[in-house]
Amino acid sequence: MKKWFAVIGDPIAHSKSPNMHNAWFEEMNIDAAYIPLHVKSENLESAISSLKTLGASGWNVTIPHKQTIIPFLDELDPLADKMGAVNTVVRLQDGRLKGYNTDGAGFVHALEEVIGKDNKDQEVLLIGAGGAARGIAFALQLFGYRKLTITNRTVEKAEDIIVELGEGKAMSIKEAEQSLGKFGIVIQSTSVGLANGEVKLPLSLEKLQEGAIAADIVYNPLMTPFLLEAQKKNVTIVNGLGMFVHQGAIAYNYWLEQYPNTNNMIKRLTEELVQLI
Ligand code: ATR
Repeated sequence: MKKWFAVIGDPIAHSKSPNMHNAWFEEMNIDAAYIPLHVKSENLESAISSLKTLGASGWNVTIPHKQTIIPFLDELDPLADKMGAVNTVVRLQDGRLKGYNTDGAGFVHALEEVIGKDNKDQEVLLIGAGGAARGIAFALQLFGYRKLTITNRTVEKAEDIIVELGEGKAMSIKEAEQSLGKFGIVIQSTSVGLANGEVKLPLSLEKLQEGAIAADIVYNPLMTPFLLEAQKKNVTIVNGLGMFVHQGAIAYNYWLEQYPNTNNMIKRLTEELVQLI
């Protein structure tokens, strides 16, 4: 029987996941379909029940359901459990639902696709302490990046993540600006500058190390204000598109036990996004 998958969220029309997964199914000769489903918060429980009844093999979960879906799942992958958020659900052979979070690992895969795996000793600065930052912090630790500092406008939230990690440092934005020169990898995970078309940076990049690695989790625009400013210091740029594609690829692998081609997909989506500018 044809398999089917979905992404549930509110809003959902903008999601690029259906195009990406359907293209992979075609490329890999999988008889399956992936559809966007607009699910409002008050309908989450009945939507999950319908997905089960109608035989979905799995689905992605996006805003605002990443946390609230957890009580409706039967099992959680340890990383998703730590993060307290799920972006991928797998319907197991016996019908039970297992939740995963592929966002953080997607980020690290994307980072390592650009910079390789030999930079784990670098001092890493993570800017932001929201849901996305949490996922990235846990994944960085899991993949062996152990020198992590988190900075955030609300520094207490950075401290909370550090306590949960059991290692690393939290610092204010001011302190991070002062000590920016010691970080080899700087990751921007806030939503600063996304609203109202304003161009703002989460912190001053004046002291950014020449030749550092600068990564952003935002992929539209591909070159964010943070990356444009960082580029002036001759840095290696990692835009947010790789994270998006790899979180999808890891989910695909959980569902179908094959890893799809991420390079072609990144090229293809880059072309689409460049055309939008
Ligand atoms: P996400 O799930 O995308 O991470 P989030 O959980 O709402 O979204 O987190 C947003 C992040 O962007 C937080 O780190 C937030 O800082 P606070 O914890 O201090 O709110 C950061 N952020 C959003 N708008 C900001 C702004 N105008 N200035 C500085 N930081 C901002």
